[in-house]
Amino acid sequence: MPLKILVGTQWGDEGKGRIVDLLSAQSDIVARYNGGDNAGHTVTVTEHTFKLHLIPSGIIHPHTLGILGNGLVINPKSLIAEIEMLRESGVKVSPERLKISFGAHLITPGHISIDRAREATLGKGLIGTTGRGIGPAYTDKVSRKGLRMVDMLDLPLFEEKMRLHVQKINYDLSIYYQTAPLPEDKIVHEYLEYARQLREYIVDTGAMLDIALHEDKLVLAEGAQGMLLDVDHGSYPFVTSSNVTATGVFSGLGIGICAVDNVIGATKAFQSRVGAGPFPTELDGEMATRLRGTGAQPWDEFGTTTGRPRRVGWLDGVLLRYARRINGLTDLVLTKMDVLSGLPEIKVCTAYQDKNGESYAIPPMGISSLDQFQPVYESLMGWTEDITQVRDWDDLPENARAYIRFVEYTSGVRVMMASVGPERSQVVEVPA
Ligand code: GDP
Ligand code: IMO
Ligand code: MG
Repeated sequence: MPLKILVGTQWGDEGKGRIVDLLSAQSDIVARYNGGDNAGHTVTVTEHTFKLHLIPSGIIHPHTLGILGNGLVINPKSLIAEIEMLRESGVKVSPERLKISFGAHLITPGHISIDRAREATLGKGLIGTTGRGIGPAYTDKVSRKGLRMVDMLDLPLFEEKMRLHVQKINYDLSIYYQTAPLPEDKIVHEYLEYARQLREYIVDTGAMLDIALHEDKLVLAEGAQGMLLDVDHGSYPFVTSSNVTATGVFSGLGIGICAVDNVIGATKAFQSRVGAGPFPTELDGEMATRLRGTGAQPWDEFGTTTGRPRRVGWLDGVLLRYARRINGLTDLVLTKMDVLSGLPEIKVCTAYQDKNGESYAIPPMGISSLDQFQPVYESLMGWTEDITQVRDWDDLPENARAYIRFVEYTSGVRVMMASVGPERSQVVEVPA
C-alpha cells in the first residue's frame, strides 16, 4: 500500500509546500494529518505563488484529491477564505476535490483569544505562538470538550454546543485573564453559517483512505510544522501542540500502520526558527542577515503565516540525526541551496559540547535542554557560482555537491533531491 510521508525535519518552513507540490504530480491523494492554519506552505508555479495554510499543497495539481484528516484543528473562517483564494486563482476546490474528516476539531475565536491572552501572561516564558488558537483547540480536544466537524452536521445541537463553548471561554477570559467577553450571538451565528457552507465536505476520510490504499492509489501525507516542534519529541515547551512526526500520520489520518514507501524529510540547507526556544547554531549580526535576507525577495526568511523575521543559523547535523531516528527517514530533500551561494565558508554542526567540554553526538535527555550545549562545527568550502539555473547534478559546483554529500554523511540519510530556487522546476535530482 503506497503511502509516502513528507515531514519537516527542523523547526518548520523547510520548504515542505514546494516539495509536496513536486511529489503531488505522482500522487492521487494528498492529506494533511496535523496542525491547523499555523502552517504556511508556499508553492511557486511560474509567476504564481500560492500560500496555503490548511488545504494540502497538492490541490494545485488538478488530478489530486485533498484530505484534511482528523488530526487537524480547523478554523472554518480561514478554510473558507483559502477555498475562495484558490478559486480566484483558477484552482478548482469543491466537495469532490476536498474532503474534511468528521473527527477534525474546530478552532473558534474563543481559542484564538485564549491563545493570545495566555501568551501575554508568559513574560520570559513566551512561546511565540502564531496566535491562531492552536494550543487551546488541542487542549479542548484532549480535555474531551472540543467541538468537531461532525458537530456541524446537526445545526440545533451545534448551536447549543457553540453557545456553551463561548460562555465557558468568556468565563475563562474574565476570571483568568481579565479580558472583555466575546460576542456570543455573533460568533454562534457566524459558525452556523460556516457549518452550512462546509457540511458537504465532511466525510469519514479514514474509511476513504483505507479503500484508496487497498486500491493501490498513491497517497502522500503532508506534514505541517517541523519535527522539532512536535509536542512529544520537540524542544518542549517551545513546541506546537500536535504530533508533527511521521508516526502522527496514522493517528492523524485514521489509518492503520501500513506499508510506507518512503518517509521523506524536508530539510533547509541551513537552520531557521520562528518563535521562542533554544537554537544552538543560531547566528546574529551580518551572517544572520545574509542567510535571512532583508525581505526584498519572496523567499527571504520571514514567516509565511505571521510575517515575523525568522531566526537563522547553520545547519544542525545533530538534530538532523535525531530527526532521522524519530521519523525513520528514508530520504531527504535539501532546499534553498541557492541561498548558500557566495559564502566562502559554510559550517555544519556535527556534535554538541557541554560546559565541561564533554562531547555528545545526541543530547542525553532529548532536545528540551538544548540551551546547555555549544555546537561543534565542521567547516566546508563554499562556491561562488549562481546555481539557480542548474538542473543536473554534474552541473552543480563541486563544493555544492560536496556539501550535499556531507549532509548525507552526517545525517545518515540519502539526499534524493536538492532545490536551487522556489519555482517548481528549480530542482536537481541527486544520484545515489
Ligand atoms: P514550508 O512551511 O515548509 O512549506 O515552507 P515555507 O513556504 O513557509 O517557507 C519556505 C520558503 O522558501 C518559501 O518562500 C518558498 O517559496 C521558499 N523556497 C523553497 N525552496 C526554495 C529554494 O530552493 N530556494 C529559494 N530561494 N527559496 C525556496
Ligand atoms: P509550517 O507548516 C514554523 C511555531 C510557532 C511557535 C510554535 C507554537 O509552515 O512549517 P502554535 O501557533 O503552533 O501554537 O505555535 O510553533 N510554528 C511554526 N513555525 N512553521 C510552522 O508551520 C509553524 N507552526 C507553528 O512560531 O514557535
Ligand atoms: Mg511555513
